[in-house]
Amino acid sequence: MTSRRRLIFPMALVSVADYEEQAKERLPSLYWRFFSEGAIGGKTVKWNRRAFERLRLRPRVLHRDVSKVDTHTTIQGEQIAFPVCVAPTASHCLAHPDGELATAQAAAELGTCLALSHVATKSVEDVARAGGREGLRWLQLYIFRDRSAIVRLVRRAEAVGYKALAVTVDHPVIGKRRTPLSTLPPHLHMPNVFDEGAARHEEMFWRLRGMIDAALTWDDIDWLRSVTTLPVVVKGIHTAEDAREAVKRGIAGVWISNHGGRQLDGVPATIDILPEVVRAVNGKAEVYLDGGVRYGTDVFKAIALGARAVFVGRPVLWGLAHSGKNGASQVLQILRNEFETTMALAGCSTIADIKPSLVAHENDYRPKL
Ligand code: FNR
Repeated sequence: MTSRRRLIFPMALVSVADYEEQAKERLPSLYWRFFSEGAIGGKTVKWNRRAFERLRLRPRVLHRDVSKVDTHTTIQGEQIAFPVCVAPTASHCLAHPDGELATAQAAAELGTCLALSHVATKSVEDVARAGGREGLRWLQLYIFRDRSAIVRLVRRAEAVGYKALAVTVDHPVIGKRRTPLSTLPPHLHMPNVFDEGAARHEEMFWRLRGMIDAALTWDDIDWLRSVTTLPVVVKGIHTAEDAREAVKRGIAGVWISNHGGRQLDGVPATIDILPEVVRAVNGKAEVYLDGGVRYGTDVFKAIALGARAVFVGRPVLWGLAHSGKNGASQVLQILRNEFETTMALAGCSTIADIKPSLVAHENDYRPKL
């Protein structure tokens, strides 16, 4: 009966979860599994969600006029319309033929930032062109053993207006997953990694493994800072200790991430780490978070606990799988609208009004025996 009803009344897509369901139906199962899986064991990917669910909101009422809610903020000095940005995820062309070009257009349309993956299926230049002058873009980097390749890519990104580099540090080796991809279909490639044509029909993801430098240390992050004028953000921080080190090294942004639970299974949910990192950073760098953000209320919780902005990975892939640029754009709109509603209902008219006291842990509501 459900399916007949659905034929007559197509399901309204009102939440990010609806796009997830649609993506599961539309994507070839190999790609669905590649996108959705966490590292084997699957605990962290689950905890990223569960930890958000364990936080409660403590709305204030009648304190402020919420007839107008302003969701604007800045990241690294650049304005974004609301604090939800697009996390770097590999191979958008597996979700939709327009791939990262569609994602760049959606992010620009919504006035937010796209952090393009190093291993994107479109070039930094084509993505910049698609997103247009107004679009804000960062480039995510893995550091290869061949440093000259990294410098060349950084120069290309600088030349077409990328505004920051996010270096991923939770990926010296690839976490164990059930469905790793070994390569891309022959019509796709990784133009920011391999020369046009050179890598076609080869085991691209396997080759990539050999290129990423597992010997990376903080001194290499200093090196990256020395070869660019762009702000460098470190993506994949899990502890106060590393956040303090990042600040000591003059890093512009600390990005709490466990790679969507795809790398080291058993690390805590990112939202659970946020308070210790925010304390450690102590205002000396911006703090970002990704992992399991699916509702406007999640965004609100992260901002309340001290994140400057959050990033979403899989939700954008689901939007792309549904309908390319429009789907990605709708997913971002859903998050923006939910966040705006949450702000109004919690008594906040600006981002600065979103204070830690508006969030509590569920344990705070346990009866004290
Ligand atoms: C990723 N992520 C990732 N991170 C990165 O720095 N470079 C990359 O190329 C990729 N690729 C990638 C592919 C896929 C399919 C996924 C799901 C994730 C991690 C990504 O940036 C981000 O940390 C998580 O996706 C955030 O979690 P959610 O929003 O997907 O729960």
